[in-house]
Amino acid sequence: MTSENCDSFEVNSGQVSATHVAVLGLGYVGCVSAACLANLGYRVTGVDRDENKVANVMSGIAPFYETGLEPLIRDNVAAGRLRASTSINDIADADVAFVCVGTPSEKNGNLGLEQLRRALHEVRDSLSERTKPLVLAIRSTVFPGTCEETVIPLFRDYPFVSVVSNPEFLREGVAIKDFLEPSLIVVGGEDFDSVERVASLYVPLQVPPCLVSLRTAEMIKYACNAFHAVKVSFANEIGALSARLNVDPGEVMSTLCEDKKLNISPAYLKPGFAFGGSCLPKDLRALNYRASRLDLRLPLLESALLSNQQHLQRAIDAILDLPARKLGVFGLAFKENTDDLRESPVVTLLEQLIGKGREVRVFDPHIQLDSIYGSNRNFILQQIPHIGRLLDDSLAQTLSWCDHLVITQKLRFDLALQVKEAGVSTTDLVGTSLAYTALPAPALAV
Ligand SMILES: NC(=O)c1ccc[n+]([C@@H]2O[C@H](COP(=O)([O-])OP(=O)(O)OC[C@H]3O[C@@H](n4cnc5c(N)ncnc54)[C@H](O)[C@@H]3O)[C@@H](O)[C@H]2O)c1
Repeated sequence: MTSENCDSFEVNSGQVSATHVAVLGLGYVGCVSAACLANLGYRVTGVDRDENKVANVMSGIAPFYETGLEPLIRDNVAAGRLRASTSINDIADADVAFVCVGTPSEKNGNLGLEQLRRALHEVRDSLSERTKPLVLAIRSTVFPGTCEETVIPLFRDYPFVSVVSNPEFLREGVAIKDFLEPSLIVVGGEDFDSVERVASLYVPLQVPPCLVSLRTAEMIKYACNAFHAVKVSFANEIGALSARLNVDPGEVMSTLCEDKKLNISPAYLKPGFAFGGSCLPKDLRALNYRASRLDLRLPLLESALLSNQQHLQRAIDAILDLPARKLGVFGLAFKENTDDLRESPVVTLLEQLIGKGREVRVFDPHIQLDSIYGSNRNFILQQIPHIGRLLDDSLAQTLSWCDHLVITQKLRFDLALQVKEAGVSTTDLVGTSLAYTALPAPALAV
């Protein structure tokens, strides 16, 4: 491929692959996918109900402006790898059909599935003569569960059709570059051969695909877009506050991005327990207070503490729903490997459990009344003596007493082993033992 700012991309002058790929919907995603897949060497048929789009593609014209798209369409149509049609019957011998139709918002914000349902009905109606396997790869953005609840049931009587989710992450304006140099390839499904079939189409891009469950693949697209929206809003709120404080917003954010260990990294991006401690809540409160004094609304930053409280309350409600009466709690400090109790969410959790009449015992490997000293000892004895009285000296003591263990901190290996051996049921708030299993990565062949 040529450089980032150039609007032409190297055209494949090689052979046409035996694989026939159909692309349903020739909008931004479908047209770019069709042109790029053709350029990778596959025989591609794009189908759209819009006659103008189809005529444009067949004449080598891009149906909308996208950098580098037109020459890619023109050259791949000329090479016989790409064609377009308004008839679903033209995909009769396709091996894989990428569904790229629109899923616009309904008035209430819900996702509109009308185009998807209609396109799938058309595919189903075209299958009467078919026996050859067909993998339907849903590339349109759809809510988790859509493939299971809306797509798969339509093909129940067609066992040769399988369904995978293959969300698209391209950005308009740099869509071809994003397709050919993807930041992420995700293929989700329950049928391993079909997942592998779709993933193998991307082998020439040399980016290892993430093979996940069907619902995870659907969810990842939403998680990515939500993350991007939150990033933009975060940068804008920090920028707005910085500007009001006579601090250079660009310098703040570019310096923040220099930290690849804690800031631009997987750190703090694992679903787990609520945050606490001596810094995060205090500093968020200070930022929000100062912003409000400047008449500056920062809804994202204001909502972080609220979000944290809600997360803690969900955990408390889930524990209160348990039939267990004698609850053991592992961890009292706000995180592992510290005895710092300041703003530990576990204190709030314990107070609510006690208040609702649960019997509770607590063990924290770093908080033993006879060995801690200074401010933490005073805090326990003076501020939370009712919790200090609940502390056990060992995990074994807690485990032998409780009928359910709530884990609020990451367990050391030896302690995790003790919990396993005790056979006590657990609620793992840090999510360390939650076993989400992804499909194993296949050895891909082109
Ligand atoms: N645009 C983006 O940047 C982007 C990026 C990633 C994912 N997505 C998602 O991809 C999907 C498609 O987005 P888009 O921007 O390409 O939409 P779009 O509206 O540009 O294109 C949809 C195309 O589908 C066609 N179509 C509708 N029903 C059809 C049918 N029954 N048979 C054949 N063609 C049919 C329409 O005529 C249209 O050309 C959406 O779910 C979107 O959320 C979009």
